[in-house]
Amino acid sequence: MVTSIPTLREGAITIRPIRLRDARALERELLDNRGWLRKWEATSPHGPMNFDTRASIRSLQANARAGLGLPFVIEVDGELAGQLNVSSITYGSLGSASIGYWVSERFAGRGATPTAVALATDYCFFRTGLHRMEICIRPENEASLRVVEKLGFRYEGLRRRYIHINGDWRDHFCFALVVEELPTGVLRRWLDGRVPVSNAVIPSADRAAALSGIRLGSSS
Ligand SMILES: CC(C)(COP(=O)(O)OP(=O)(O)OC[C@H]1O[C@@H](n2cnc3c(N)ncnc32)[C@H](O)[C@@H]1OP(=O)(O)O)[C@@H](O)C(=O)NCCC(=O)NCCS
Repeated sequence: MVTSIPTLREGAITIRPIRLRDARALERELLDNRGWLRKWEATSPHGPMNFDTRASIRSLQANARAGLGLPFVIEVDGELAGQLNVSSITYGSLGSASIGYWVSERFAGRGATPTAVALATDYCFFRTGLHRMEICIRPENEASLRVVEKLGFRYEGLRRRYIHINGDWRDHFCFALVVEELPTGVLRRWLDGRVPVSNAVIPSADRAAALSGIRLGSSS
């Protein structure tokens, strides 16, 4: 079981445990980036959610204490740039977890997210003993699809109307890695330019199915 959340660094990028005193800076980033983030944000199928940053940090921390998550902030050159959450940690014979992330628009395109994902995944594989890491992405989210492509997450399939995002159930493409694929780790493989290029390729049939899903099941 994961008992503590580490601070991990590569170059200008750091991931560290989220703290209650991040609330003000986080809230400012979330408000300033409403237009940038809204389309990709998890929502509740039961109606509008309260926007309470302190409560959401407390809930992430409680989840972490229960061993179910690792809530990080992403920093670029020491500035708060976004969040990375390892969630749905399952131990035992599944040994799996999921990653979600965002960065503010002004930090986009600097490789912060792939670096953060690589650091977190390597920590989960080599320090906590997890076996599989999953990332699910909306088919329209080309920037996020680049993140998994860069790191060589393997495409596993299309999940129909899988997560409630921006007010509706949305199709997602699912990608994963298992530890046996990564003798030297995700970060080292990426930095050494040894990522298999075909790993994240999405079959055209799934792209077409997702497009038809977007037309059938989406309100925006
Ligand atoms: C998806 C996201 C996390 C990527 O983070 P990042 O740190 O910018 O990742 P990278 O630097 O590797 O850039 C990934 C791709 O984003 C695109 N990108 C770069 N700068 C951009 C910008 N200013 N605006 C829009 N897209 C940009 C590029 O296609 C880039 O790929 P490339 O490096 O091959 O050119 C970020 O765009 C984001 O937070 N988006 C809004 C929230 C979101 O989509 N979360 C993920 C939900 S699954």
